[in-house]
Amino acid sequence: MDEKTVATLTQKALAARSNAYAPYSRFLVGAALITEDGQVFSGCNVENAAYPEGVCAEAGAISAMVAAGGSRKIATIMVAGKGPAPCLPCGGCRQKIREFATQRTCVLVVDENGTELFKDDLHALLPHSFGPENLETGADENPA
Ligand code: THU
Repeated sequence: MDEKTVATLTQKALAARSNAYAPYSRFLVGAALITEDGQVFSGCNVENAAYPEGVCAEAGAISAMVAAGGSRKIATIMVAGKGPAPCLPCGGCRQKIREFATQRTCVLVVDENGTELFKDDLHALLPHSFGPENLETGADENPA
């Protein structure tokens, strides 16, 4: 991935992070992804007084991608959390990313300053995974 793409994702993920709604955990997270056709989408965590109803930043970025109606293939997804430990996607988000991943989908984690803390393929984070191709119908098309 080229430096310009990393810079764009970093800027978008940090901007989304600054809008995060996390009054309960106080742990702000932003995410930005780029699709295989070059569109960029972002999201932030949105918590809720009914705690389990909160949603992760990655889920917001994925929803924006799907709503836009273009390519749903994630080339790279970046997560911006607070260091020093990398804010790696939770198990649920790994599976959500998997739905729209390719063999090459890359996951990057940066800290609150945009410093890279982690980079690897989704496959390394979610090996031996279950995906759309496990279902007979697949998920390429919506049912009529
Ligand atoms: N969170 C994310 O949004 N993404 C991650 O990758 C890890 C955790 C959120 C969920 C919750 O709002 C807060 O961070 C603390 O867990």
